[in-house]
Amino acid sequence: MTQDPIRSLYESTPYPALSYPSCDPAVMTVAAKLGGLDCPSPSCSRILEIGCSSGHHLLHLAARWPDSRFTGIDLSATAIRQARAAATAAGLENIDFHDIPLEDFDPGDEQYDFLIAHGFYSWVPPDVRDSLMTRLPSLLGETGIAAIGYNTLPGWALRRPIGKIIRQWMTLPEARDTPPTRLLEQLEKACPPDTYGTHIRALLHHMRTAGASTLPFDDLAECNTPCTFSDFVDHAQRSGLRYLGESDFTQNLPASLGDDALSTLSPLVSDPIGYQQALDVFSGRSHRVSLVCADGALLEPRLTTAASLEFAIRTEHQVQRDATGVSLRHSFRPGAHLSHPLAATLFEILAETAPCCLAIPDLMERLDDRLGPGTDLSKHLPALASLLTDATRRGLVLARIEPVDFPATVPDRPCLAPIRLHSVHHGRSLVDIYHTPLVFSDAEYELLAAMDGTRSTTELERLSAPFRSGPEFHQWLASLSRHGVFEEI
Ligand SMILES: C[S@@+](CC[C@H](N)C(=O)[O-])C[C@H]1O[C@@H](n2cnc3c(N)ncnc32)[C@H](O)[C@@H]1O
Repeated sequence: MTQDPIRSLYESTPYPALSYPSCDPAVMTVAAKLGGLDCPSPSCSRILEIGCSSGHHLLHLAARWPDSRFTGIDLSATAIRQARAAATAAGLENIDFHDIPLEDFDPGDEQYDFLIAHGFYSWVPPDVRDSLMTRLPSLLGETGIAAIGYNTLPGWALRRPIGKIIRQWMTLPEARDTPPTRLLEQLEKACPPDTYGTHIRALLHHMRTAGASTLPFDDLAECNTPCTFSDFVDHAQRSGLRYLGESDFTQNLPASLGDDALSTLSPLVSDPIGYQQALDVFSGRSHRVSLVCADGALLEPRLTTAASLEFAIRTEHQVQRDATGVSLRHSFRPGAHLSHPLAATLFEILAETAPCCLAIPDLMERLDDRLGPGTDLSKHLPALASLLTDATRRGLVLARIEPVDFPATVPDRPCLAPIRLHSVHHGRSLVDIYHTPLVFSDAEYELLAAMDGTRSTTELERLSAPFRSGPEFHQWLASLSRHGVFEEI
């Protein structure tokens, strides 16, 4: 396949502007350090994104870290024009965009501390995949890390033939009045009630709810080549790269696999690659974002207590102390019961500070204050370090390299930062303080675009009256403030 069909796809149809928390260098750094690599701080680093589209992911990082230097490259000149316009509108001077294919990109002697290639590896032809992997060791140097996203088998095995059927159907005259999402809905209803039908129905549902704007680039894209995790690691090793783990440490264990499945598969952990492959087979995982570094990078053989306590953490779980420890519950993530004697107090502090993210040394100080002079915390540090690492692995706490502190209250005159204002003016996702994209209706985007710090909440409520008012409006504003999207002015 030549690049031309890919170029014309991305030039002709706008790609949805999203951000990816797993490709946030603050999150990647945790996975690197837990994998033994001491990479630099992202707040003062060089960051490259390959296939950056309209730059949505990178622009918000550039606004967060003014002392870092950002570069985004993409094949699509249209997308790069949009990215440059957004950087200018937001007054960002630490970011450059280039409309150039990866194969022709010449960074000179530049090396990057963080490299992001999300939505790239599976979405380009084999020669471009090879180019990505063989160029990575020199782009990364000895301490750089790269987050590479790709679609995985066997999770994707049935989605390719389904996509092919829908593409064929779209060429028929009957398809003119029925969008692919409608066909997916009809097929969903027609699935047989047996086990196979249930599985296919879930896949069709997933494709349909991903939305009409994503389908042409994903399930319906001609170039979309999933691979097994083992094949990805093999490709990385042949190219002089080393697999460090998933770029978001919590993704090493798929959330859908319960304790029973994990303990049944646990004898396989002595072969980490085989173990991860087995997890994909049993969970049906269909996408990964893996972290790699150059093969020659210096790795610490063992994780020290100090290294595992240098992060910042938060919890999204509901925390309830009981007689035997603490119960942690979440609306869609697995819950847990922890019986470590310090776990209840520790999680109570995290629940009080949520949605902010607390540096572990600050957490220790608060824990010390709560426990009083009777407990010498320094004696418990190794146990606490392993408790926190295990809680991070299980997704009970979310770790990043730097703390995040913000008032989760609604300001008198809600104000979005320039890059967020530019995004909502163009109907692009609103990226929250943890780099999660929030998507809204057109009317909501219009209201968000009015949040430039000049209007009071009462005036905004008046503007929102056609679709939302009273307690419902205030709840909506409160939930936005818990996402940390408002500036302090
Ligand atoms: C599936 S989109 C992913 C966009 C974005 N990274 C994301 O995950 O949302 C793939 C992007 O890679 C770009 N692309 C495809 N082939 C390329 C190449 N050879 N060099 C640079 N960019 C390329 C496309 O133009 C498109 O913007």
